[in-house]
Amino acid sequence: MKVLGIETSCDETAAAVVEGGKHILSSIVASQVELHARYGGIVPEVASRQHVLTILPVLERALGEAGVGLEGVEAIAVTSGPGLPGSLLVGMSLAKALALARRLPLVGVNHLEAHLYSLWLAGNPPPLPALALLVSGGHTELVLMRDHGDIQPLGRTRDDAAGEALDKAARLLGLGYPGGPALSALAESGRPDRYHFPRPMTNKPGLDFSFSGLKTHALLTLEKAPDNPQSRADIARAFVDAVVETLVIKCRRAMEETGIRTLVAAGGVSANRQLREHLTSLAGNMGGEVYFPRLEFCTDNGAMIAYAGYLRLKAGQQEPLSFSARARWNMEELSI
Ligand code: KG4
Ligand code: ZN
Repeated sequence: MKVLGIETSCDETAAAVVEGGKHILSSIVASQVELHARYGGIVPEVASRQHVLTILPVLERALGEAGVGLEGVEAIAVTSGPGLPGSLLVGMSLAKALALARRLPLVGVNHLEAHLYSLWLAGNPPPLPALALLVSGGHTELVLMRDHGDIQPLGRTRDDAAGEALDKAARLLGLGYPGGPALSALAESGRPDRYHFPRPMTNKPGLDFSFSGLKTHALLTLEKAPDNPQSRADIARAFVDAVVETLVIKCRRAMEETGIRTLVAAGGVSANRQLREHLTSLAGNMGGEVYFPRLEFCTDNGAMIAYAGYLRLKAGQQEPLSFSARARWNMEELSI
């Protein structure tokens, strides 16, 4: 079955055609990063207007590269939440129009669940049950993925997401937006022992996170530090080390508490080199294994939506044309 996946929940306009849940025939992503960079973050109205301008060219390229016309598409999957309401509506309106015009089955996909399925787009999907760390610009969640459609939340951030924290620290250091990758690159030349930032909520039981305090810590340190490139690199290092070690401590705790040794990371921050390295050693030390998505599928894309939609269609799910977006939609509310 050739599934068209459409994603417009945040600041990426994406479409992909995936066949049989496995073969990625095309995956087109148009990023709005440059548009939002001048504001230092995502402006929802700008995002939805840009989705309107970009979605049809993205769709045409996705169909063209897949070598299928609309006639070749057999089902449509679209992100229906969580996300920015105005942005979600652009993708959903297109999906509904195509489903109506071509009389195709239509399925709504949870964006967070789809991030987990980015792992299944590589040749080596993880066995289930698995512990999954979802770390992106909008979300930081640790969940137990028992089976497809059976997800138990174990912990989540109480304030900023890990990616959001990295982006805010990068902005403080003048690295532009979104600064996660630039911050971790700068951290590579920072000295590990110059500054030590806290590992928030690690000395209390539980698997929740809180990253907003780290930003204040970085600001206070920056104000007192000598104004030179080495100090900025040292602050970047302390910040990245604090975020990465906090995530690793919670993953270790989840492994110990559940006895599960299969670990999965997904979302934009799972592309991070330092995080990958530390989760790999954690899994090694615990006698387990860690799985990462291919780099291109860590950030938002249409292929993960098509794959998640394919599984839901196979399980018999289908949406009426009247179905609505869900700006807030937790994974524990999912079922197959
Ligand atoms: O999954 P994603 O594309 O969008 C959301 O759904 O939020 O994640 C974007 C986030 C941004 O905060 C970005 O700075 C971060 O992922 N990010 C990284 C890296 N690549 C993306 N952070 C650190 N290192 C990276 N290599
Ligand atoms: Zn995302």
